[in-house]
Amino acid sequence: MSATIVLGAQWGDEGKGRVVDYFAENADFVVRFQGGNNAGHTIVVGDEKLALSLIPSGILYPTCTPVIASGTVIDPAVLLAEMDMVAGKGLDPTPVRVSSNAHLIMPYHRKLDAVIERYLGKNQIGTTKKGIGPAYTDKYSRFGIRVQDLFDPKIFAEKVEAALEEKNRILPRVYNTLPMDSGEIIDEYLGFTERLRPHVTDTSLLLDKAIKAGKEVLFEGAQGTLLDIDHGTYPFVTSSNPTAGGAVVGSGVGPKAIDEIIGVAKAYISRVGTGPFPTELHDEVGDTMIELGGEYGTVTGRRRRCGWLDMLALRYAVRVNSLTKVFLTKMDILSAFDTIKVATGYRADGETHEEFPAQQSVLYNCEPIFEELPGWGEDITGAREIGDLPKQARSYIEYIEEAIEVPIGWVSVGPERSQLVTIQ
Ligand code: GDP
Ligand code: IMO
Ligand code: MG
Repeated sequence: MSATIVLGAQWGDEGKGRVVDYFAENADFVVRFQGGNNAGHTIVVGDEKLALSLIPSGILYPTCTPVIASGTVIDPAVLLAEMDMVAGKGLDPTPVRVSSNAHLIMPYHRKLDAVIERYLGKNQIGTTKKGIGPAYTDKYSRFGIRVQDLFDPKIFAEKVEAALEEKNRILPRVYNTLPMDSGEIIDEYLGFTERLRPHVTDTSLLLDKAIKAGKEVLFEGAQGTLLDIDHGTYPFVTSSNPTAGGAVVGSGVGPKAIDEIIGVAKAYISRVGTGPFPTELHDEVGDTMIELGGEYGTVTGRRRRCGWLDMLALRYAVRVNSLTKVFLTKMDILSAFDTIKVATGYRADGETHEEFPAQQSVLYNCEPIFEELPGWGEDITGAREIGDLPKQARSYIEYIEEAIEVPIGWVSVGPERSQLVTIQ
């Protein structure tokens, strides 16, 4: 196994951070390939909790080079603050590598993210307001400013001025807000240059050499399959491709280099922000998932919406990502329930759907068809081998494997590094 993608199989927050941390022990490189500081990846080691938004989860291992590749969008102030944060915890941020082609999140992107959401009113996406959508919009409009532009102050200033030419027409007229000053932005950003310089490189070339040399490379997805701009529940999605294809496009590595694609799925499901969610629970079962699962956003502190596992969505994630294995997280949270439900179909307008529907309106109007499975009703946080799990918990795992036709290789039973059952 030399190149492995780890990605979210649901709506994000599946536990990717802890999963990547687990594999990173044997990895030489961990690569973030899309998204930005909208991500919040939590790793728990003993009593210590580390929440990362941009730096790849491999940072905990001194043998591992964390790479922020070209498909990401980078808020340089956030990146530098995160480097300081990890340094404060005794970790060394020196090896972090940043693609010169990655796009910058600019102050006007953050502002636009906030005012667009306000403008959308009840139709808002519920974004993290970190400027992600507007930064990717500029990238695709070919208005974007890249990390490498910081190293040519003249070009950088020209690009900021050109961008503000446009934004300063839009901000007051469309969004009724104040225009922004280009001088301030240019000074602030050029002030980051010297600290960033030693980290910036051609990360595609770096990874190519690593893969050719037989190094272990791990690609760390942010967000999740159902938040993918192409394959997610559009428009309630993020502005990048958290799916497997995004890993190769966003890191400049060819698809044939990839050996394994591991989907991370919670034993139930959650989403933060707005958008359709067929198995969402609005009762005390949902509240229990939120409270026991600590389902509050790492980035925004928002309460995550929770519901039973959706097998249509999980099979869809297997399909669009070519998952080779699944890592099931937060099994311990299900210990609280006598029976466990899984959605095996949707019923909408007299029709039964067995596949995740391509027509978005079905997701809004459907009633999930649930199958009930027996719970185990006992603490499993101490389980370390498959035999330690109660029979009903093993049956739940087997049930999912049969439904998705992909093996579950690992099950986590608590947030701490050691709280893990390896199946294969
Ligand atoms: P990510 O965005 O996919 O990395 O996930 P987050 O870190 O945002 O959210 C997952 C949360 O669940 C974090 O607080 C983790 O510490 C926690 N977590 C991960 N795995 C488990 C598990 O097996 N059991 C429990 N109880 N918590 C877990
Ligand atoms: P991790 O990596 C869960 C959601 C937001 C919103 C939508 C668009 O921790 O799993 P954006 O700011 O990206 O334009 O917001 O996507 N979202 C996430 N939800 N986990 C995340 O990241 C998310 N990143 C964005 O809540 O609904
Ligand atoms: Mg998260």
